[in-house]
Amino acid sequence: MFIGTDIDYAAQAIRDGKLVVFPTETVYGLGANAFDAYAVAKVFEVKERPTFDPLIVHISSIHQLDRLFQSPVNPQVYRLAEAFWPGPLTIVHLKTHEVPDLVTSGLPTVAVRMPSHPMAQELIEKAGTPIAAPSANRFGYLSPTQAQHVVKQLSGPDYLLDGGQTDYGIESTVVTITDAGVRILRHGAIPAEALAEHVTLVSEETPLGTENLPSPGMLKSHYAPRKPLYVLESTAFQKLPKNSGLIVSSTLRATLHPNIKTVALSENGDLSEMAVNLFTALHTMEEDDEVSEIYIEPVSEIGVGRAIMDRIRKAAFSYLKKKEE
Ligand code: TXA
Ligand code: MG
Repeated sequence: MFIGTDIDYAAQAIRDGKLVVFPTETVYGLGANAFDAYAVAKVFEVKERPTFDPLIVHISSIHQLDRLFQSPVNPQVYRLAEAFWPGPLTIVHLKTHEVPDLVTSGLPTVAVRMPSHPMAQELIEKAGTPIAAPSANRFGYLSPTQAQHVVKQLSGPDYLLDGGQTDYGIESTVVTITDAGVRILRHGAIPAEALAEHVTLVSEETPLGTENLPSPGMLKSHYAPRKPLYVLESTAFQKLPKNSGLIVSSTLRATLHPNIKTVALSENGDLSEMAVNLFTALHTMEEDDEVSEIYIEPVSEIGVGRAIMDRIRKAAFSYLKKKEE
């Protein structure tokens, strides 16, 4: 895999049906021409992703929706687009026939977002086609927020556009539109509170129409490091094993366990900063040979904190049970 910053080369690769890893403001994506089913098939292969998990299609101009969303397009789409695009919001809507079934895993809907990262925008524009891209990690592994995280996991893509550390560090918020209002399918970089300022949000229990089957990718276990991860109830008085790695919310709290490898997610407990650093902290612990199990402090579930806790719970899922036994 070549690594660099040559957007023209990357755009040509996309046009040629090849795979390009590119930075977005959330995490790195593994991209292919969304209308080229053969290229999209390679995405699933390289990621070892089951084909029941649909991809997000990335656009650089609102006009590209015409070939993706079936008309009539729900007016709520434009309301959301105006407020949050370009940015980390993914909208699910009935698709046109032109969108390959492989992109949507056979669902009648397609998920679309317009990234704000300048490299992503330029890539899509120069490629002249929407780009289907999941996060550029192996299926079930940690999401990549730096080029190095991708190199660690994937060798199959043709080119990796290096854009440094991503801005949000956590994936986009995925929403769908029901008759009663907008429903969150996956918490992410845009907090529910921000959405609620622009549209009516309905509860996550609201029934979905037949065209809106529940998101197949909403697995309970996901984004997981290759070592046991435990969520702590409180770090204050707990004795941790010597070979632990500890992830805490702020620099101040990092002093609680002086003899243990500790990483702080933020200086002063700022939630956005914690989101940016979450996956990097997990990657760091995963790579450290001295660490055999990872402990992490919970964060408060307000704003982007809800998406952070969602990722933490999914990363810890397979080990939570073991610990309780
Ligand atoms: O920030 C992001 O969203 C990143 C960057 C690369 O854009 N992408 C990302 O893709 O996180 P991925 O594939 O890791 O997650 C996409 C999520 C999955 O949970 C999938 O099930 C859901 O979006 N999704 C995709 N199409 C859908 C559809 N038609 N209906 C419901 N959910 C869908
Ligand atoms: Mg992913």
